Amino acid sequence: MDTLQQLVASAQSDFENAHTAAELENAKAKYLGKAGRITEQMKQLASLPVEEKKKQGAVINQAKQAIEAALTSRRQALADAELAQQLQAEALDVTLPGRSRSQGGLHPVIRAQERIEKIFASMGFDVGDGPEIESDWFNFAALNMPENHPARSMHDTFYVEQGYVLRTHTSPMQIRYAVQHVKKYKSLIDAGQTMPDIRVIVPGRTYRVDSDATHSPMFHQFEGLWIGTQVSFKDLKAVYINFLHQFFETEDMHIRFRPSYFPFTEPSAEMDMMFNTGPLRGRWLEISGMGQVHPNVVSNMGLDPEHYIGFAFGSGIDRLAMLRYGVNDLRLFFDGDVRFLSQFS
Ligand code: PHE
Repeated sequence: MDTLQQLVASAQSDFENAHTAAELENAKAKYLGKAGRITEQMKQLASLPVEEKKKQGAVINQAKQAIEAALTSRRQALADAELAQQLQAEALDVTLPGRSRSQGGLHPVIRAQERIEKIFASMGFDVGDGPEIESDWFNFAALNMPENHPARSMHDTFYVEQGYVLRTHTSPMQIRYAVQHVKKYKSLIDAGQTMPDIRVIVPGRTYRVDSDATHSPMFHQFEGLWIGTQVSFKDLKAVYINFLHQFFETEDMHIRFRPSYFPFTEPSAEMDMMFNTGPLRGRWLEISGMGQVHPNVVSNMGLDPEHYIGFAFGSGIDRLAMLRYGVNDLRLFFDGDVRFLSQFS
């Protein structure tokens, strides 16, 4: 039988030679496990007389404690080593320069659109939204452009099945929005009372078969509509000029109305503006189509044209964005070149 001293020494050396937690646990079993050497010694005590038992028991206990101490210290050493290794493996060099992440930004056309929405909202206009795939009725017929009307040829577009089109302008939203408004105030109107004015702008994408430096098959418009009982061209002029002053942050401009023709307004006009300063000074720029809403269109809104009157306008958002940001080719907006777009964010 080993002397206890030998046993302790052998346990210490076994523990020292264990290089993983699992190896260490195996080594521990060899001494302290159920069939371990120390346990065996304990069992043998049973056959000794009481006095001997006490003496021998104390000695074995001492040995056991020594082995347990060796085990604990080896466990700690292994854990420390593992931690040190992990720290080393996961070491970060905090002096390395960071990896930059590119940041997204709003498209200049959307920036211009949001600016337009804010300005009109400040004048009490609601901001509407509507479908880009539109029926013949809303895009043409309801706007006083029956089938075979020559004005339709200026609106060549992409036809979808079953007579639907990609809307050629935002004007169909005049009808859609007004019809909703009239529905909302139906009981009031039926009772012979006057509904609150319709005052809305509707920005959105529009489509025509057109493509050059100033035309794109997809472009952005915003429609304006104000219908009431007292609305006149004077209000249209005031609203639109106020808008231009705010949008361009200057009043240093000239504005003129030219007579024009749209089937859904009568009289109709086109509005031009000219900056007095800056790179574009001295050039008339076409800004918007507009006019007093045609009585047939007022009827199609479900309103009595003898009682309700108003104006509408339709303007190009891309055009306004080009003027505001000094961009000379519309196609740049839609090429998706980050070098161009990032200048606006
Ligand atoms: N819808 C017309 C266009 O796209 C613009 C317009 C809108 C004109 C409203 C008058 C009134 O050309």
